[in-house]
Amino acid sequence: MRNKVERIAVLTSGGDSPGMNAAIRGVVRTAIGKGIRIYGIRKGYAGIFEEEIREMYAEDVSHTINLGGTILYTARCKKMMQDDGPPEAAEILKKYKIDGLVVIGGDGSYRGAQCLSKCGINVIGIPGTIDLDIGCTDYTIGFDTAVNTAVDAIDKIKDSSTSHERCSIVEVMGRSAGYIALVSGIATGAEEILMPENYDYNEERLINNLIVNRKRGHTHHIIINAEGIGDSMGLAERIEAATGIETRASILGYLQRGGSPTSRDRMYASVMGTRAVELLASGARNRVLCISGGGLVDRDIDEALKMEKHIPEFLTRTADVLTYHYTKKNSI
Ligand code: F6P
Repeated sequence: MRNKVERIAVLTSGGDSPGMNAAIRGVVRTAIGKGIRIYGIRKGYAGIFEEEIREMYAEDVSHTINLGGTILYTARCKKMMQDDGPPEAAEILKKYKIDGLVVIGGDGSYRGAQCLSKCGINVIGIPGTIDLDIGCTDYTIGFDTAVNTAVDAIDKIKDSSTSHERCSIVEVMGRSAGYIALVSGIATGAEEILMPENYDYNEERLINNLIVNRKRGHTHHIIINAEGIGDSMGLAERIEAATGIETRASILGYLQRGGSPTSRDRMYASVMGTRAVELLASGARNRVLCISGGGLVDRDIDEALKMEKHIPEFLTRTADVLTYHYTKKNSI
């Protein structure tokens, strides 16, 4: 039985997020520096079944730290969710003598990694998703870039909205989490931030706030709506019908997933890529990397996946104070 770690593999899985390439680079360069052979698996877990497994070299990741997307490609693999998927994938990885697999992705990708760990594959998870919806970590690679992209787009929509004296609804991504909505809403001074975690579906209040805002002379009204609530077009129609104020909805969509990663995403991706290989080399088994209390920690994958996500109170309170809730509190 071999004890020394000689070959490891890396894949990106689920929705791509800016910074994934910086994480791959961290993994590849650290492995090579330690004399470990590193294999890139293309198209996420699907690439295991299709045996798209190729050795990577230092130059394969040259000039990639600044690139959005993922050079390894990604996919959402249905087969990994079926009972026979993980054992079959584990056998293929064993055939390639892979001693450890680094999975860069979100919670769905972590579930796949957990299944592989039960089939004897040593896995290390790096959180890569724009949604920031993984319970065990305060930070996920790609979130910062996605928020900055959303902020840039919202600022531009605000210019147009103000010029036309319209109400604008901007729908941002996040699946069933409201982090992108919350942070981009605070950062753009939005009048309303609608998040699945606490939205009460009280459209009468939304409409009253808009009317009061308008009477006070405000020429724009920006509502940030999270994807998890959705129906932005319908909401725009209902607001316009109730107020007579021109209302437009913009769905930002996939542009939030692309683009060159921010320095923050590049830095955390590099740190986590490096640490993932250090963990494998040191004999650690089935860990996920997390940012917690400002530091880098690793947790057992089973324990990590049981952790629940809670939006920090200081963020929701700030949003509550700075958005216009005329019907809830005195106007400033
Ligand atoms: O998880 C990232 C994300 O962009 C979510 O915000 C969104 O709900 C989802 O992926 C979209 O997934 P797909 O790429 O499969 O359309």
